[in-house]
Amino acid sequence: MTNTTGQTWNTEAYAANGRFVANLATAVVSLLTPQPGEHILDLGCGDGALTEQLAATGAILTGVDASSTMLAAARQRNLNVEQHNATALPYHQQFDAVFSNAALHWITGIEGQQAALSSIYRALRPGGRFVAEMGGHGNIAAIRAAMQAVLAPYNIDSETIAASFYPSPALYRRLLEEAGFNVQSIDLIPRPTPLPNGMESWLNTFRNGVFDRLSPPDRAQALARTIEILEPILRDHDGNWIADYVRLRFHATKNA
Ligand code: BEZ
Repeated sequence: MTNTTGQTWNTEAYAANGRFVANLATAVVSLLTPQPGEHILDLGCGDGALTEQLAATGAILTGVDASSTMLAAARQRNLNVEQHNATALPYHQQFDAVFSNAALHWITGIEGQQAALSSIYRALRPGGRFVAEMGGHGNIAAIRAAMQAVLAPYNIDSETIAASFYPSPALYRRLLEEAGFNVQSIDLIPRPTPLPNGMESWLNTFRNGVFDRLSPPDRAQALARTIEILEPILRDHDGNWIADYVRLRFHATKNA
């Protein structure tokens, strides 16, 4: 994906702290209903955990990601993957479906989203479908508010740096329709998400692009304060951390 955020991907940290991303994708995979023999592009395939599951249905998968580190991990699974930016895919009317899970929100700004949607539209054959899930309006609101408050004294505007795109259904429907898609369904779904290794691991994995701007001592202090603010909100009485994820899930089609 387009990355102007400084966010980096460590495959081991992702496997330990981000595997839930693929594991919680059952609903969007059901919406895709992959069929044996059809050609599917998995946009933002990461380390290929979900691409591999989709390929097991008999569909023919091509994975695309911008991260060479993640693609190296995907190749270990014997997947067919290519390094491209979502805003400039080189494909023309060759996929029956484009699928994407937890990747589109990394594309920065409306213009980036418009470029990606045009690129995806071009990649689909007439009648093809685009089925995806991404962060939606209000996603990880408590985490973002805590980071804004903690990092402001360091002159860090974490919302601007993280630059995540979490649209409402109304906005994303408009962008999809402007790109030429017919929207079959689009829903905003709150999905409280247990974090297997707690908040510190999550912040280190998914928000390193923000925290890495600090010196090591400031980083440790800011991280600790963010966790302290979030604890009464996102940690339950048994000590489990549950992040305030909100998903935007949709199914759109290209005219036949
Ligand atoms: C998400 O899938 O909503 C997400 C992923 C990484 C960081 C923040 C949000």
